[in-house]
Amino acid sequence: MLPKIVTTSLPGPKAKAIIERDKQVLSPSYTRSYPLVAERGQGAIVEDPDGNRFLDFAAGIAVVATGHCHPSVVKAIQEQAAKLIHMSGTDFYYENMVALAEKLASLVPGDVPRRVYFGNSGTEAVEAAIKLARYHTGRGQFVAFLGAFHGRTMGSLAMTASKSVQKKGFFPMMPGVHHVPYAYCYRCPYGKSPDTCAVECVKAIESELFRTSVPPEDVAAVFVEPVQGEGGYVVPPQKFFDELRRLVDRHGILLVADEVQSGMGRTGKMFASEHFGLEPDVMALAKGIASGMPLGAMVARAELMDWKPGAHASTFGGNPVAVAASLATIELLEQELVANAARLGEYLMDKLRDLPQRFPIVGDVRGLGLMIGIELVRDQATKERAPDLRDRLVQMCFERGLLLLGAGPNAIRICPPLVITRDQADFAAQTIEDCLRLLI
Ligand SMILES: Cc1ncc(COP(=O)(O)O)c(C=O)c1O
Repeated sequence: MLPKIVTTSLPGPKAKAIIERDKQVLSPSYTRSYPLVAERGQGAIVEDPDGNRFLDFAAGIAVVATGHCHPSVVKAIQEQAAKLIHMSGTDFYYENMVALAEKLASLVPGDVPRRVYFGNSGTEAVEAAIKLARYHTGRGQFVAFLGAFHGRTMGSLAMTASKSVQKKGFFPMMPGVHHVPYAYCYRCPYGKSPDTCAVECVKAIESELFRTSVPPEDVAAVFVEPVQGEGGYVVPPQKFFDELRRLVDRHGILLVADEVQSGMGRTGKMFASEHFGLEPDVMALAKGIASGMPLGAMVARAELMDWKPGAHASTFGGNPVAVAASLATIELLEQELVANAARLGEYLMDKLRDLPQRFPIVGDVRGLGLMIGIELVRDQATKERAPDLRDRLVQMCFERGLLLLGAGPNAIRICPPLVITRDQADFAAQTIEDCLRLLI
């Protein structure tokens, strides 16, 4: 199915009325890029209350991995809701939470026993990782990367370094977090290229940070997104992860992979870490894990989970309905959708790869599977960022029925449900191209 805009302008009258009501009562801290009101969704298609159909290449911010309202997920939710909606897995037992923990423990790369902590969101998975790292190591310092997004609660916000507006007005942060440059090769802060660099970004952690201000024996963990999400869909080279693993191992530091956005099949493998042979000590998961039901998970090597009863818990974490949705989601991912993400990701990338050759305002196209970023610049030589062009592109695509989101100051992110078809990929690529043509 493809988009169809039936109202003379957007938003249509019914959507407009809802937006007016929203403006009166919802938090103004939300960041709506365009006026999309969703009423129903099926697969990669979302319909608004005026009957306009949109192709959703944002997937509720990379969440609805199996598409909107996949029948198997809906059925699992309905059956579980009729049986048991809540019990609190922190105080009682129920089987499906055990089954999901077993499943996640077996999926996370690395042939070691793992244990799972459940929360309700990405930020809670990250908070749990922060607390576990402190608890287990007895150390209080952390390293994270510039451009990272790890969440918005006070611990994860301290780890975040994506946009300063996310921190403005909220200081002081949790102390002890040190940000270093990410392997953002298109904009290498060391002026190197990925073919010839010596992974200066990781080496500087030791030669600069550890030497001058942060003793490595005080560092509990390095937090890293295997593909940086909100920061612009940035894919590091293999050697970044090789060097990072060597660094943390040398100092007994834990490596925490935040796969909240890159996980659950999005990159064409179950976890982006697998593309790099990365076996993290701890993994944070959420977003795509339950096709839209609120669920987060922190999966750690079993021996790291030496915290005692009462150390950490959440009333709703691992809610039976969310867990049922997650089990159904993972079954679909394993059956076909991870493979579809790989296949369609390659198909889409083939259509987008040469955009920089055809459009002077496209600086870089990068990605893995169905996690693709397109960076808009004013000038390919200077790489001057073009946030205004990016915003206009997103707006123009919306007007043509394609839902996209920005990432970083000047990139768009392509993160559709993993169920998309070739027709839908064609429509998205063609729409982006048509809009780019109008922008130059
Ligand atoms: C990599 C990453 N970590 C953590 C989070 C926070 O997740 P949530 O919004 O569910 O708290 C996000 C959200 O975008 C994310 O992309």
